[in-house]
Amino acid sequence: MSVLDRGFMFGDGVYEVIPVRGGRPFHLEAHLCRLEESLKATRITSTHSRDEWRTLIIDILAKSEEVNAQIYLQITRGVAPYRSHDVGLMTPTELLMVQPVSTESLDPLTLSVCEDYRWLRGKIKSTSLIAATLLRIQAREQGAMDAVMHRDGVVTECTSSNIFAVFGDSVVTPPADQQILHGITRSEVLQLPGLPVRMVERTLPLEELLTADEVFVTSSNQAVRPVVSIDEHTFNTTGSCTAQIAAAFEALMVMDT
Ligand code: PDD
Repeated sequence: MSVLDRGFMFGDGVYEVIPVRGGRPFHLEAHLCRLEESLKATRITSTHSRDEWRTLIIDILAKSEEVNAQIYLQITRGVAPYRSHDVGLMTPTELLMVQPVSTESLDPLTLSVCEDYRWLRGKIKSTSLIAATLLRIQAREQGAMDAVMHRDGVVTECTSSNIFAVFGDSVVTPPADQQILHGITRSEVLQLPGLPVRMVERTLPLEELLTADEVFVTSSNQAVRPVVSIDEHTFNTTGSCTAQIAAAFEALMVMDT
C-alpha cells in the first residue's frame, strides 16, 4: 500500500467488523447494507458490488482455518498523487481479512463517563478513530476499561459499542440517530423474541443511566456484555436480565449462522 493512501494520510475510509461463528458470518446482509450506507455517505465507490463482497467473504472463510473469528473489511478513498486535501478521482483501496477472535477478556466491563466530543456523524462507520482512541485512553486514566459518552447530559454510546440500561422490566437504549453507530448487535437485541422485557429506544439522560438496575453494551466482538460499574456507581450482574438477553442472543447467533 502506498503511504499516499487517503486512509493512511487522512483516516479517509470506512469499515465493517463481521462476527464469524462456526465458520459462517453472522448477519452478513445487515453488515453489507451498513457498508453501502457508509460508502454512500462518504462518496466512496467500492470496486465491488454487494454480491461480489458476499462471494469474497464466503471464499475467504472457506480458505481460512478460523471457525470463530471476525471479518475485517476496510475501504479507503484510494491513493492520491500527492498529499492534498483536494479529492480527485481515485480507485479505492480495499482490504478483507479474517482475524481470530480477540484474546481480550470479556469479563464484566467497567466504564467511566466522558464527554462525547467525536464528530456528529457517528452513524458512518469511519476509520477515523482518533477521538474514540483518546476517549478510551481517558477512560483508562480514569480507572475504567472504556468510556460511556454523553452530549450535554444525554447518553450516546461507548467507544466501540452501544449501550443499554435495564429499569425493572424495561430495557432502554438511545435512539439510532446520526450521532451513534447503528449497531447490528443493538438491532438484533432489540428484536429478540420471547423475553419478559420491553425494549425501548429513547433519549437516555446520563443521570438516569446511573440509577439503572443493570447496564450492558453490545457489539460484534463483545456480543452482549454486562457492565459492572460506571465510575463509582455499581450494577447487578448476577442472575440478571442481562444474562437472559446474552443467552438469547448467543442462541440466535448459533441458529442464524
Ligand atoms: N465497533 N458503536 C461504535 C462506536 C462501534 O464502533 C461499534 C462497533 C458499535 C457496535 O456495532 P456492531 O454491533 O454493529 O458491532 C457501536 C466495532 C466492532 C469495531 O470498531 O471494532
